[in-house]
Amino acid sequence: MNIIEAQNLTCPIDGEKLLKTDKQFVCRSGHSFDIARQGYVNLLPVQHKRSKQPGDSKAMVQARNRFLNSGVYEAIADKLTQNVSAHIINDNALCLLDAGCGEGYYFDFLLQQLRQQPSENNLSFIGLDISKDAIVQATKRNKLTSWVVGTNRQPPVAEESVDIIICMFGFFCEQGFHRILKPGGKIILVDPGAQHLKELREIIYDEIKKTKLSDVLQFDEERFSLLDSEALQFETVLSDNEQINQLLLMTPHFYRASKAGREAACKLEWLNLTIDVAFKTLQKI
Ligand SMILES: C[S@@+](CC[C@H](N)C(=O)[O-])C[C@H]1O[C@@H](n2cnc3c(N)ncnc32)[C@H](O)[C@@H]1O
Repeated sequence: MNIIEAQNLTCPIDGEKLLKTDKQFVCRSGHSFDIARQGYVNLLPVQHKRSKQPGDSKAMVQARNRFLNSGVYEAIADKLTQNVSAHIINDNALCLLDAGCGEGYYFDFLLQQLRQQPSENNLSFIGLDISKDAIVQATKRNKLTSWVVGTNRQPPVAEESVDIIICMFGFFCEQGFHRILKPGGKIILVDPGAQHLKELREIIYDEIKKTKLSDVLQFDEERFSLLDSEALQFETVLSDNEQINQLLLMTPHFYRASKAGREAACKLEWLNLTIDVAFKTLQKI
């Protein structure tokens, strides 16, 4: 498949189409957004921010980057690729968007796999995250993706211009996703299942919180239909204290855990781990 540049970014201020020049993206009304030296564009105006540095911190981004690069979650990336491939029909141009792409591991894995598939399809990739640190890290993975700082709430992308949205361990924004998807477009959601990381959660939480995970997805059935729902489960062993700490830091558990629980987990040299993730595909009606 051929990877082409996305042409459907829009101005976050007035929604007009953005045109790319050498150093900037510019809309018809003259709003301009510099292309950073790393190659990404920041389309998150201050009025869309709820804090000064929204999204994951640099420390979380780096922990996730190192953890994912170790390959522990490669089976998840493989399954994502299979799911996305199944929805790529022969078409001239398809746009894929990763909503909350983080440091880009899954989207880059997908891109590298798809570009090897023999087909004349033209694919464009938009990696969107509200964390500037995450996007800066993601730009190191490949230069073929349009890496964008922005929000899932109001993705700076033209209406009905995206074929497939992936949202991994992220923030499902029904309205924002519905607006940018083409009719019949798909959302592939990947979320933790009930057993996900249970051994870690047993260490860091008290009894009540252990069973608090819910995998019930709320969506408007007049806007989307659920095409399929599948679980991926496997077990692995982490035998490195640094890696266990990276895992802890990259998940929201780090902030939710008690001090004692966090300290206990930080000292672990070895951890048996259940991976349990739910893949769900929604289709825009
Ligand atoms: C748990 S991380 C998952 C990152 C990546 N999808 C992965 O699985 O490696 C959630 C990501 O969502 C981003 N995020 C949080 N709120 C967001 C929003 N409103 N719009 C876009 N991204 C957001 C965070 O910065 C973070 O990178």
